[in-house]
Amino acid sequence: DDGLPAAHDPFRIVGKAVDARNTYGLPLAVLAELTHRCPLQCGYCSNPIQLEQASREMTTEQWVSAMTQMADLGVLQIHFSGGEPTVRKDLEALVQHASEVGLYSNLITSGVMMTRDRMFRLADAGLSHVQVSIQGATGQMSDLIGGFKNALPRKHDTATWTLEAGLALTVNAVVHRQNLPELPQIIEKALEWGASRLEVANVQYYGWALKNRQALMPSFAQLEETTQIVEEARARLKGVLEIDYVIPDYYAARPKQCMGGWGRQFFNISPSGHVLPCHAAETITELRFDSLKERSLEWIWHNSDAMNCYRGTDWMPEPCKSCAFKEIDFGGCRCQAYALAKDAGATDPACAKSPLHDSIFRTALGEAAAKEDAFLYRNFANARLDG
Ligand code: FES
Repeated sequence: DDGLPAAHDPFRIVGKAVDARNTYGLPLAVLAELTHRCPLQCGYCSNPIQLEQASREMTTEQWVSAMTQMADLGVLQIHFSGGEPTVRKDLEALVQHASEVGLYSNLITSGVMMTRDRMFRLADAGLSHVQVSIQGATGQMSDLIGGFKNALPRKHDTATWTLEAGLALTVNAVVHRQNLPELPQIIEKALEWGASRLEVANVQYYGWALKNRQALMPSFAQLEETTQIVEEARARLKGVLEIDYVIPDYYAARPKQCMGGWGRQFFNISPSGHVLPCHAAETITELRFDSLKERSLEWIWHNSDAMNCYRGTDWMPEPCKSCAFKEIDFGGCRCQAYALAKDAGATDPACAKSPLHDSIFRTALGEAAAKEDAFLYRNFANARLDG
């Protein structure tokens, strides 16, 4: 007995005993994007360009129903995200319900809107973990990248309150050409703030980040230096700070196993209730996504076209189809294939076997060398202009 509630037995789908090894798997984690509203304006945001208005967001009751269905389906973890999830006044009620149905909950926040009282209320409601983003180690870099003045001290406060409330803390640093010179100080900040984990994630280029690629792409020399800094810090801080590291796809030789495989163990819920196989899936404009306002989660997980179209390995073209790694990387990232090859079913250009691989490597080198630092902030006004 692993002590999990029955609804969390990973080998059970609503009433039917199944062996996950013979299926595409069961969803383990959900990214719940409660809203696209956000006080920050980071130009690498993974939200779609067409941000959803507050009027289309799911209600408290609809999110509560969604979480009950998640637990029934076998989901273990919920990550409350956005936009900025603390914009929602009902966050405590949502965390409370997640806790009641047995979901482990994580809050992914910029940390600029939190108060000490609210952090304690969230902890009382059952929140387990907080992830605070950091845009730079200096006030100047932080303000420039986030497009929000004086964010850094507020983030520090949120980190402090997280620990005071007895919750686990991760610091998430999305890194790129402009803030990489501050990486050693970012690592020191994560330590100083008392984080047990730091994510150093190079920007992945779809949505807003694709629009701002020229302003964000690191040079190859920067990437090598970053890897060295991370490896040195990992060795030095072993047992104190765990560091996760994601390199930029454009300089990779093998594609990442995106989302653990399309429709395999993860899904995302957009603010209006669309169920997506990954957070960036709406950038694939040919796909149509089913909504929790119209269908049950169980039905969508098993039957939705968007969930099924790149599931497993049958959809793969050559050279993926006969590749020895096809059940390891599941073909890499579909959103990236769409962004770069204009075909979500193509081999991920991050893979050295893709005919586009060399050209994206050259694109990255060229954009990094051009040093065009101006970027488009992610906000509703710029989203409207784009539309
Ligand atoms: Fe969508 Fe990789 S981000 S599949």
